[in-house]
Amino acid sequence: MVKICCIGAGYVGGPTMAVIALKCPDIEVVVVDISSPRIAGWNSDRLPIYEPGLDDVVKQCRGRNLSFSTEVHRHVGDADIVFVSVNTPTKTCGLGAGKAADLTYWESAARMIADVSVSDKIVVEKSTVPVKTAEAIEKILAHNGRGFSYQILSNPEFLAEGTAIRDLLSPDRVLVGGRRDTAAGSAAVDLLAGVYARWVPQDRIITTNLWSAELSKLAANAFLAQRISSVNAVSALCEATGADIAEVAHSVGKDARIGSRFLSASVGFGGSCFQKDILNLVYICECYGLPEVASYWREVIRINDYQKSRFVNRVVSSMFNTVAGKKVAVLGFAFKKDTGDTRETPAIDVCKGLLGDKAVVSIYDPQVAGEQVARDLAMNKFDWDHPRHLQPLEQLSATDLEKQVAVAADAYEAAKDAHAVCILTEWDEFRGLDYRRMFQGMQKPAFVFDGRNVVEVAKLREIGFVVYSIGKPLDDWLKDMPAVA
Ligand code: NAD
Ligand code: UDX
Repeated sequence: MVKICCIGAGYVGGPTMAVIALKCPDIEVVVVDISSPRIAGWNSDRLPIYEPGLDDVVKQCRGRNLSFSTEVHRHVGDADIVFVSVNTPTKTCGLGAGKAADLTYWESAARMIADVSVSDKIVVEKSTVPVKTAEAIEKILAHNGRGFSYQILSNPEFLAEGTAIRDLLSPDRVLVGGRRDTAAGSAAVDLLAGVYARWVPQDRIITTNLWSAELSKLAANAFLAQRISSVNAVSALCEATGADIAEVAHSVGKDARIGSRFLSASVGFGGSCFQKDILNLVYICECYGLPEVASYWREVIRINDYQKSRFVNRVVSSMFNTVAGKKVAVLGFAFKKDTGDTRETPAIDVCKGLLGDKAVVSIYDPQVAGEQVARDLAMNKFDWDHPRHLQPLEQLSATDLEKQVAVAADAYEAAKDAHAVCILTEWDEFRGLDYRRMFQGMQKPAFVFDGRNVVEVAKLREIGFVVYSIGKPLDDWLKDMPAVA
């Protein structure tokens, strides 16, 4: 029986290994992590991450051929294939701070593999890493290994949160990069590709050299984020001209060369990947002496920051240029629907922008706990991590947070006595809310600022709301109060 061990029981390691275990009952899969609360969560009835369909998959395999453990050394030591799925955040200090990937966790995982191995191994990069990382890992293993042989493969993960199980069960492609020019490298590529071939059609399994696989992941995320920044840039022009971004995106996306998916205008993209991976790409380009390429990709993040500040400025300017002391309901805090993940969520920047203008914010999200909201808003963001158009906000004291931020049990409680409702996550339940009931309980004029295009604008205007929806023709009210971005 082949044994797979995955280092890192996070948003990628957990679901990915659960699906491998589901599809390969003859393979023993162990997911290890240094965080004991995380492992305890995976071993409980309340999994540490919310992901539709994940509970079912874990229930089917846990205790059969899937386990979660903090005994990192033991399981890494005797595994045949070791996936490394640790976090690779943006460096916050030192060389490349604010751009380069912080490979501290990666390097310590690699050194640990070398220290504890009791057999030859295939080491799989599952984390998103800078191109050429495999070379660094090979060096660490070659210099510290005790006579065992290692094959390094790059097998980046393309799942999106909220649809992780669907993406893993039916991926657009699986990418395996390795040293196919050597017999051992080629055998390793075939072995890993063979694992996926148990459920993924052969024509969706792509094998490449190591550097192509590593770079493809960064490039794919950059292309995806670029689409959103493109549609968001056009949304600003729609508001200025009376065009409707939904109609424009539909017409543009009908061109088969462009395609209709991933063209929803929004308050900005969030999540742990897009910004981090583009910054990393920018840094790599600079390191290779390609400043023009670096600045091309940097613009994708600039437009995203612009979109978030544009939204905040629109809210404040529409409400007589001040939100001081006004209650503002924030519906949705997660970075997208169907996840409780708040990493880099645009809601943090929007809330901080509103709090900077002294608003009283009442937040409701079906999957984000109050403690998480408090942690996120108390966090001191780095300069490079803050939209430059927003006033830099001093770190909020615990007392300010208590005075200015509340977490509501539902959307109606959040909107009670509020001057405005801001929709920041496209949760399905926000489409079906009783907006008439909400309107009745709000201060007048009552505003809705829809950062996700989920409400029916005409219906809400009929109720009496002043409505702003990203990229949609503006209310006369809003036309009279142009937002300065
Ligand atoms: P995460 O923070 O949720 O999980 C990483 C886990 O690794 C943590 O639980 C941490 O405790 C553990 N860890 C760190 N160092 C360790 C060590 N030395 N030994 C054992 N455990 C260790 O991160 P994530 O969202 O799962 O992302 C992991 C990687 O996958 C990143 O490189 C990310 O860019 C990439 N990725 C993420 C997504 C996504 O949707 N989240 C999608 C594709 C790729
Ligand atoms: C992304 C990639 O899609 C995935 O392939 C990669 O493995 C990890 O990074 P994720 O960040 O989980 O996945 O979610 P995604 O669906 O890509 O959304 C990212 C952000 O973009 C979210 O904030 C989302 O709301 C926003 N978005 C997405 C838009 O604003 N408009 C769109 O049309 C699509």
